[in-house]
Amino acid sequence: MIRAIRGFKDILPGEAAWWQRIEAEARRVMDRFGYQEARVPVVERTELFARSIGQDTDIVEKEMFSFADRHGESLTLRPEATAGLVRAVIEHNLAADGRPLKFFLMGPMFRYERPQKGRQRQFHQLNVEVFNVAEPLIDAELIVLLDHFLSTAGLSGVEIHLNSLGCPACRPAYREKLAAFLRGKMDLLCPDCTRRAEANPLRVLDCKVPTCIEAVADAPRTLDALCPACQTHFDAVQAAMGGLEVVVDPNLVRGLDYYTRTVFEAQTTDLGGQNAVGGGGRYDALVKTLGGPDIPAVGWAVGLERLVMLLAEQGGLETEGPELFVAVLDETALARAFDLVQSLRRAGLKAEMDYAPASLKSQLRRAGKMQAQRVLIMGPDELNRGAGTLKDMVSGAQSDLPLNLTAEAMAERIRQGGF
Ligand code: HAM
Repeated sequence: MIRAIRGFKDILPGEAAWWQRIEAEARRVMDRFGYQEARVPVVERTELFARSIGQDTDIVEKEMFSFADRHGESLTLRPEATAGLVRAVIEHNLAADGRPLKFFLMGPMFRYERPQKGRQRQFHQLNVEVFNVAEPLIDAELIVLLDHFLSTAGLSGVEIHLNSLGCPACRPAYREKLAAFLRGKMDLLCPDCTRRAEANPLRVLDCKVPTCIEAVADAPRTLDALCPACQTHFDAVQAAMGGLEVVVDPNLVRGLDYYTRTVFEAQTTDLGGQNAVGGGGRYDALVKTLGGPDIPAVGWAVGLERLVMLLAEQGGLETEGPELFVAVLDETALARAFDLVQSLRRAGLKAEMDYAPASLKSQLRRAGKMQAQRVLIMGPDELNRGAGTLKDMVSGAQSDLPLNLTAEAMAERIRQGGF
């Protein structure tokens, strides 16, 4: 037997109903907040991710599904969507007029992580990205949107964590200070962090190894090192949060290198080790770094598996059964019933049948299992009379349904019952 590969999961019909609900909710919310859908490829040049997410990150160092194509070019299954979307914005010159661009994107991402509850190698994200808006109001809008989406999707117990990582004006001095601090803690750091302590010291703050967490407990904080412009921005983001409570979290640095100023995460305690349902932040330098114009950007992503998992723990979703199940009693009625079902569907009725005749008892049982509202019985007698027997599955009432009606008239009669 060939099995699915580790960390790649099938989404089967019972669970897919949750996905459809969440995706539909996402589209509704995005439309209301004025975000338009974009879809970009799942495969990009490896260089795109290395240059945007950062060479010294876990994602780029060890989690990418990279491969050489037939011409030897290094390609990668996207580990996240922001880089690809930025590439598309630059390539199609979408930001040229300076107006706000507000996108959302849903789709699969790939990271070679160790699978566990809430962590897979193929997972799905809802991404929201805004270009051309430098004002702190948009950071606030995105945080409110993140919280709103999660709560309308049905999630409770979400806490929003917020931090600022500074900008090219204040970050270098902070980085130097942090690197100096880490030099005194080298004996506590894991091998990855020992290596990163000089090249990319902020990554050490993000490490989940217990000794590294201990090492950085008293590390200098970005929030104490912000330049006046970053401080003003951070204050304004918090002031615009409306009634939404956020937790200022100086330890929040996020696992990707492209962030400037605002970073945030939606966390819940219901996920075991994986407590982030979503996260994001501002990335004002990324578009320029990737060869585009010098424009600000900010966004977030929610992991949909984590959301579905939390919601599906509450039980299965009710799906609606067919409006009509046609029960076919013998071969002579089969072709007629088949044509009827197809034309009723074309007329807009949700109709179902079996593809082989069977006893009335077993077909009624099947119709019941499917939660069909009505059953139309068709056998030799019904064909002779030119009328099927329509039975209501709830009341048990029966009536005749003439078979010479148009499909539309028949669909109408079936919906009304006519009992
Ligand atoms: P991220 O924090 O790496 O950010 O991922 C966002 C969310 O994706 C996480 O909070 C989590 O719910 C989900 N996620 C990540 N890895 C996995 C996994 N292996 N299995 C299941 N779910 C996972 C980003 O990807 C940024 N691109 C977000 C962003 C958009 N920043 C600005 N714009």
